Amino acid sequence: MARNLILAFETSCDETSVAVIENGNRILSNIVATQIKSHQRFGGVVPEVASRHHIEEITLCIQDALNEAGVTYDDLDAVAVTYGPGLVGALLIGVTAAKTVAWAHNLPLIPVNHIAGHIYAARFVEPIEFPALALVVSGGHTELVYMATENDFKIIGETRDDAAGEAYDKIGRVLGINYPAGKEVDELAHQGKDTFNFPRAMDHEDNFDFSFSGLKSAFINTVHHADQIGETLNKADLATSFQAAVVDVLADKTVKALTKFPVKQLILAGGVAANKGIRSRLTKELEAFTNTKLVLAPLNLCGDNAAMIGAVGEELYRHQVFADASLNAVPSLEFEWLEPTE
Ligand code: KG4
Ligand code: ZN
Repeated sequence: MARNLILAFETSCDETSVAVIENGNRILSNIVATQIKSHQRFGGVVPEVASRHHIEEITLCIQDALNEAGVTYDDLDAVAVTYGPGLVGALLIGVTAAKTVAWAHNLPLIPVNHIAGHIYAARFVEPIEFPALALVVSGGHTELVYMATENDFKIIGETRDDAAGEAYDKIGRVLGINYPAGKEVDELAHQGKDTFNFPRAMDHEDNFDFSFSGLKSAFINTVHHADQIGETLNKADLATSFQAAVVDVLADKTVKALTKFPVKQLILAGGVAANKGIRSRLTKELEAFTNTKLVLAPLNLCGDNAAMIGAVGEELYRHQVFADASLNAVPSLEFEWLEPTE
């Protein structure tokens, strides 16, 4: 097979990332310039600050990605870029950089959906086998995506309000943990007990949707009430109780989906997929599904990065899904819902 080389761009939120990917599954370079420190003092991502950082970093990241991969523009077959969903100003920097490289070096331009990218981080573990189901849990998204075949993404369930990662970041703030709080809350959650019995919203409803805002409010109210009466609650128990509620609903809905949609692979992807609680719970649940293999996105590729965009890019390249210079950022880009068959 001829070697396929894709230069991939990811700038949808607060990481500027450029990667060189060979044949869709081998990382030659994956440069990630994170802006977390600049956003931390605001407790979340400030869109305008993010755009400015992307502008400063993008050309440096391109150079580093090419150097580290040991390739030049002449070696490339295509340029792939995240064009949504995400922050409009942030996306525009990546889209403009990718268009410029594609135009200057006469390369095809491949438009990639950021969520497809998260799912395709699994390609660096093993080839994706269809049909597949993906649980995508990140700071901005929580959804179950059914893939009957290549380049076919259909939503079967999603959060009605907050994303799981967003809930982690907000309750983390109440515990005095810096943004993004997920990793630290996860660590704390392994040191306490589930004593608070927080709500498992929508757990028993007959759908594949999620809701985390009630859980977040219950958590915040519990802490505030304790503050008012001068009581100090055990932080580890709070974190354990919160994580138990999140993991229960994520796992229960995923199991329900696997029962209705038998698949060859279940892929866990997105920033929150790094969570130890959800990784071990799904590993346990999957023992009952002998025909379904669990593929966990590699820990270092759960967060936003351009390697995962290159992994989708190669597939779209084979399907000749190309954009022209009119490609624009689409901040609210979404997959379609699966149409009911009955
Ligand atoms: O996918 P991502 O890097 O960015 C988005 O596209 O949103 O996800 C970032 C989110 C943050 O909310 C962060 O707190 C969360 O992933 N996160 C975690 C863990 N590591 C990162 N949440 C729970 N447990 C973790 N170990
Ligand atoms: Zn993401």
